[in-house]
Amino acid sequence: MSNSITVFGLGIIGSRCADSLSKAGHKVTTWNRTPKDRADETTDASQAAQASDILSFYLKDGQACREVLNQIRTSLRPDHVIINHSTIDLVTTHWLATECSVVGCQFIDSPFTGSKVAAQNGELVYYVGASDILLEQYRSVLEVTSKEIIPVGKVGNATIIKLVTNLISASTVQALSESMAIASAHGISPDSLISAIAGNACGSPLASMKMPTMNEGNYETHFSLDNMLKDANYAIQLADEAELKTPGIRTTADTMQKLCDAGSADLDYSALFQQFTDKPL
Ligand SMILES: NC(=O)c1ccc[n+]([C@@H]2O[C@H](COP(=O)([O-])OP(=O)(O)OC[C@H]3O[C@@H](n4cnc5c(N)ncnc54)[C@H](OP(=O)(O)O)[C@@H]3O)[C@@H](O)[C@H]2O)c1
Repeated sequence: MSNSITVFGLGIIGSRCADSLSKAGHKVTTWNRTPKDRADETTDASQAAQASDILSFYLKDGQACREVLNQIRTSLRPDHVIINHSTIDLVTTHWLATECSVVGCQFIDSPFTGSKVAAQNGELVYYVGASDILLEQYRSVLEVTSKEIIPVGKVGNATIIKLVTNLISASTVQALSESMAIASAHGISPDSLISAIAGNACGSPLASMKMPTMNEGNYETHFSLDNMLKDANYAIQLADEAELKTPGIRTTADTMQKLCDAGSADLDYSALFQQFTDKPL
């Protein structure tokens, strides 16, 4: 069945998901704050919302979601569903859900894991915070851009899970950076370390993916340092709310902030390794 879908946000992920949805035969409209000159693009956010029943957000952060919702609010109809795939703060997730309920439209909390290549191949993994009935209604659309859909309960749960899993990714890349710097300072070749980690329980798909490029100083952006910093700060907000001390992610966030300030914001977040190479902090 063909659906009408508007994709808001044509960054690394949204642009690729819009392409996949189009290729799958859906009627796709796109909108981006900074026009991208796509044939399916509408520059007016309200008109972009009116064009479709399904409104998919692949926006940067909570602030971007609030700004877009405010632009499309008067165009929202009860037959709309907003599916938020952006990684945002929990307060904004609940705010979006409330705004939708005021209009009488549906809201699905659905951030994802998977990066540029996964988006290109329609292999994201969606966490879904929504009722089972609502998920089933839109499952076939989510399947176009994903290889797995993981229901996690009510609205907000997917946001929390996404933020704490990104905490693990940021902390892992920080740990990989420290281990590479120490081993190298003691004369161990990067290739030896990469093989040793691959055969160790501490190895992971993330370590295998990031270490070779970190070693080359190749920080082509799959997920930006700036966006990872944003997610670390959202995770810290969750910790604060629960009155938890989380020194690891606070230290990593501080390092990411310094690197962003030093000009690395748009690089891949594996540029965390720069703290030991070209940008000692
Ligand atoms: N890339 C990944 O590997 C990955 C993985 C998991 C989750 N995510 C999450 O998915 C979302 C999209 O990621 P991405 O990598 O595609 O991000 P991105 O390349 O940084 O794109 C961000 C998008 O948000 C838009 N935007 C930023 N501020 C805005 C505002 N105030 N109002 C309206 N639009 C605004 C940008 O528009 P402009 O072009 O005008 O700046 C752009 O379209 C983010 O929440 C990210 O954390 C990404």
